[in-house]
Amino acid sequence: MEFYEAVETRRTIREFEDKLISEDIVKRILSAGLKAPTNNHLREWEFVIVNDKKERLKVLNLKDMTSYDDCEKMMDSYGMTDSDQRGMYHIAMPKQFSMLYGAGCLILPFFKLRDPLLQPSCLSSLNEFASIWCCIENILLAAASEGIFGVTRIPMEEELIHIKNTINHPDNYAMPCYIALGYPKQNIKLPVQKVINIEDRIHLNSW
Ligand SMILES: Cc1cc2nc3c(=O)[nH]c(=O)nc-3n(C[C@H](O)[C@H](O)[C@H](O)COP(=O)(O)O)c2cc1C
Repeated sequence: MEFYEAVETRRTIREFEDKLISEDIVKRILSAGLKAPTNNHLREWEFVIVNDKKERLKVLNLKDMTSYDDCEKMMDSYGMTDSDQRGMYHIAMPKQFSMLYGAGCLILPFFKLRDPLLQPSCLSSLNEFASIWCCIENILLAAASEGIFGVTRIPMEEELIHIKNTINHPDNYAMPCYIALGYPKQNIKLPVQKVINIEDRIHLNSW
C-alpha cells in the first residue's frame, strides 16, 4: 500500500476477527517501529507479545465501562462538549478490556527510562517517551499497510503495577500504552473522524 493511502486508511479499531496475525507480519510491523526517529540514537525499545489468551487474561487488569450513564458522567466531569468526541467515548469506553483481550496480537511496548518519567525537569526529560510514540505511530501505519488495525490504550497506574507484577519487566523500562492489533470485524460502528482543513492550521510567519 502506498504511504499516503496507509495514512488515510489507518483508523482506531476496537473490534477484531478471531484471527492471529502471522509472526512474519508482526515482525515486519515491529521492524517498521524500530525505524522511527529516536532521541539518543539507540532505539532502546522492547516488545512483549502476549497472544496466549490465558496469559493475556493474567496481564489485563481492567474492565469495560458498560454503563452509558457512567460514560456520560465521566465525559461531563472532563468538560467534554464536542459531540463527535462524546460519540467516540461512547464507542470506546465499553470496549477497553474487550479490545485488548480480543485483538489478534497484543503488544506491550517498553522504552528505557533515564529519569523518573513523571518528574521531568524540562522538555528533554521526556525525550524517551516522545521517541517511543514515534515508534508506535510507525507500527500503526505499517499495520494499516498490511490491512491490520488496532488501538493504543494508556494504562492507569494500577494497570501498570499489575503488569509489572505479572510480566516482571526491568524497573528501568516503562510501558507507554498497550498496542492491540488485528483484522477488523466487518460492519463495525466507527466514531466520526474529525476532518481538519490544513489551511485552518497553518500560520505564516507568526501565529
Ligand atoms: C496517546 C493516545 C492515547 C489513546 N488512548 C486511548 C485509550 O486509552 N483507549 C482507546 O480506546 N483509544 C485510545 N486512543 C485512540 C484514540 O481514541 C483515537 O486515536 C482517536 O479517537 C482518533 O480516532 P482515529 O485513530 O480513528 O483517527 C488513544 C490514542 C492516542 C494517540
